[in-house]
Amino acid sequence: MITRHRHLLISMFLLGVIGLCFGCSDGGDTPFATTTPISAVTSNIETDTEKPGVQINDVSNGENQFTGLGCSACHSTGSDKIIGPGLSGIKSKGDDYIRESITNPAAIIVEGFQDLMPKGFTNLKQADLDDLVGYLNSLN
Ligand code: HEC
Repeated sequence: MITRHRHLLISMFLLGVIGLCFGCSDGGDTPFATTTPISAVTSNIETDTEKPGVQINDVSNGENQFTGLGCSACHSTGSDKIIGPGLSGIKSKGDDYIRESITNPAAIIVEGFQDLMPKGFTNLKQADLDDLVGYLNSLN
């Protein structure tokens, strides 16, 4: 009996097809034994497929955020001043500085400017903020 069960478990793992497991329980063997391996297999699949793509910044979404959130009303992407400084070359100040400038603009005030940047960007979705930083890093 024990070897028969092993055969069933092994074939389930190899083929991984739920339909086959119905076949197994039709055969009259322990149906409850089928639940554990199936959930183990599906949870592996989920984590494997979620890994790629997590850290990739979508620069074109960042650009849409830049105009959609109104950043472009105060900031040029070159070196011209509008209400805020032009953001060309901002990459040289580093990701952490850029992030803080957006989410906590009062923390550092750029010399020659006033604390006029809106304070509401703290609520930006993490992914949109990442994309926005990615876009700003692309400005030469
Ligand atoms: C109402 C005008 C206004 C809007 C809208 C605005 N900013 Fe600003 N921003 C400023 C001003 C003024 C400064 C300079 C004062 C300071 O450092 O807070 C500044 C500073 C910055 C800096 C630091 C620049 C440097 O040279 O160190 C960054 C980065 C920045 N803003 C990004 C953004 C982004 C991204 C958005 C949109 C999510 C945005 N700003 C929206 C006015 C604005």
